[in-house]
Formats: sequence, C-alpha cells, structure tokens
Amino acid sequence: MSPLTNDNYTSPPRPTLSLVGKVALVTGSGSSLGGIGNGRASAILLAEVGAHVVCLDIQPQLARETVEMIHSEFGSHRDGLPTAISVSVEGAGMDVTKEEDCKRAVEECLSVFGRLDVLVNNVGVSGPIGTAIDVDPKGWARGLEVNVTGMMLMAKYAIPAMLRNDVRRGEEGFGGTSLRGSVVNIASVAGLQGGTPNRLLYPTSKGAVVNMTRAMANQHAAQGIRVNCVCPGMVFTPMMYARGMSQEERENRRKRSLLQTEGNGWDTGCSVRFLASDQARWITGAILPVDAGATAAIIYPKNERVPTRVSESESASNKPEAKL
Ligand SMILES: NC(=O)c1ccc[n+]([C@@H]2O[C@H](COP(=O)([O-])OP(=O)(O)OC[C@H]3O[C@@H](n4cnc5c(N)ncnc54)[C@H](O)[C@@H]3O)[C@@H](O)[C@H]2O)c1
Repeated sequence: MSPLTNDNYTSPPRPTLSLVGKVALVTGSGSSLGGIGNGRASAILLAEVGAHVVCLDIQPQLARETVEMIHSEFGSHRDGLPTAISVSVEGAGMDVTKEEDCKRAVEECLSVFGRLDVLVNNVGVSGPIGTAIDVDPKGWARGLEVNVTGMMLMAKYAIPAMLRNDVRRGEEGFGGTSLRGSVVNIASVAGLQGGTPNRLLYPTSKGAVVNMTRAMANQHAAQGIRVNCVCPGMVFTPMMYARGMSQEERENRRKRSLLQTEGNGWDTGCSVRFLASDQARWITGAILPVDAGATAAIIYPKNERVPTRVSESESASNKPEAKL
C-alpha cells in the first residue's frame, strides 16, 4: 500500500448543518402559553435547516400550534411533502409512556414521509416533590415512566425505522458524512449534579437519561446511529413560568451560571440541531451541558465571601512573628 501524500489524498467532504430531505420526530414539541419550550424551539430550528418535522405532544393542540408556526415561517410544503405534521389519535394527544402511541407516531412518520432520520426525546416533567422519606411512590413511578421509559419506548420504534436508511460512511469508514440516524435525548444539569433540595425524582430520572444515552450510543454505533444528550441549565421556558415565577426567583436562576445571562428554549434547540446534523457526525455518546457554565464551576453569589486558598487563621499563623 503506497503511503498517503498530498497527491493521492482527497480532502474529506465538509459536513453541513443542512437537514434537507431528512425527517425529524420531536416529542413534547408543544409549548404552553404560546411560549418557546425546548421541544418547540428544536422543532422550529430543525425545520429552518430543511428537515420535515413530526410533532408529538400529550396536549395535541400545542403540537398543532408548533406545526402552524413552522408552516407560517417556512411554508406548508417543501419538495411536495409537508414541512411539518402533528400526530394524534383521533384528535387526542400522544403519550410517550404508551407503547402503542410511540409505535403509531413512527408508523405515521413512515407513511407520510417514508423515512425517519432524527429522534429528539424531549418530553420530561418535574415530577413529584419530596425526598426518599416523603415522595409519593405513585408519583415517583409515573415520573420515571415519563422521563426515562418514554425515551426508551420512542427509541424502540424510531431506531428500526432509521436502520432502513442508507449509511454513507465513505470508503472503508473514512470520510463519509452521513450515518443512518441520530437520537438526541434531553436530560438536565440536574442529571449531572445531585442538588435539587426538594426533589429526588427529577435528578434521579435525568441522571438515568445521561447514562441511557451512553448505553444507547454503545449499542447502536455499529448500526450507524448516533445518540447524544443535551443537559439544559436553568432555561426560561413555559415549564418553569407557567405556574408563576417571581422576578426574584427568575433573577436567582439567571445568576446560577458563569455567564449570568438567562437561557431559553432556543439555546437548547440550537444544540439539539447541531447534534442532529452531520456537523456532529463524529460525536456520539456525548453529554452536552447547555447551561452558561453553571456546571463548570462552583458559583458563589456576589455578596458571599469566597474562601481563599489559605484560610485566614492558617495565613496568620504562617506570618513571621511581629517584632515587639
Ligand atoms: N426548562 C428548564 O429549565 C429545563 C431545564 C433542564 C431540562 N429541561 C428539560 O427539557 C425538556 C423540555 O422542557 P420544557 O421546559 O421545554 O417543557 P415544556 O413543559 O414547555 O414542554 C414539554 C412538553 O411535553 C409535553 N408532555 C409532557 N408529558 C408528556 C407525555 N407523557 N407524552 C407526550 N408529551 C408530553 C407537554 O405537554 C409539553 O408540551 C424536559 O425534558 C425538561 O426536563 C428543562
């Protein structure tokens, strides 16, 4: 085999953000109060780069609203196919904890578009409050079902649909841009750190999503499926403010980061879109915090004294004794 030189080496193709001709299914793609949640933002941003988007939500009117937003911004059809559709069973919402709903959503996607390339497992709920001592076990079980089992059930039907796609790895695994499909799971910074004083369910379930992502990445890489995870920080979405949030609480959330700017659904959506696209073709099993640096450092409130490396008592004892 002759050694590679500039003469016989072809530069690799440059991956793009474009999802033209691809189909993405986003769970929990509705958003209350006409706002921009993580799922709605992801759906709109995926449509912006050419994907046909399938919107699914337990509240069907919210998924339909997202579809209307996509239609009004990008038109109702592209290349003879709808830019976006919402899936429902006789007008009722789709619940990711129901296996038949997950199966139906993927079937609908294949019957309308003939393919599925991207799954965004966005559904997640705060779940019950409470510690191990006082959390309601039924609420706990439901929370795990929605936040963890729902993602597995969607993947159970979405991944076999992706396996119908051609893989373009390039010659002997070099250079190609496109694999068969991409799954993006939405966890949370609460899945990276344990600090939610009054909730055990949420950090537990989001921690499970983080490791489920790595396990899925391992199991499906050989089939040409990438699986990654986005961990949003304190983003200001309807999930957070629908039940009322004081200005002070909003400020406190903003300050729990290094950048000290407020995040929103678009910040999550942009990272989802990147991971879904061929620009992330070499990324799988990654856990991406989108949190303005909240998990990169210990954040000390401005008025709190920051401990110095050498405590004052230590440094006093190290000082040379004052001469009398
Ligand atoms: N907002 C934040 O600060 C924040 C932070 C970290 C992680 N997250 C995660 O981001 C994701 C989306 O959060 P959001 O703030 O955009 O929420 P959101 O409440 O605005 O949107 C979630 C959507 O999911 C739908 N849904 C709930 N249960 C469902 C089910 N069983 N089946 C189908 N649809 C269902 C809801 O109807 C809603 O429209 C969640 O996984 C959440 O845990 C949010």
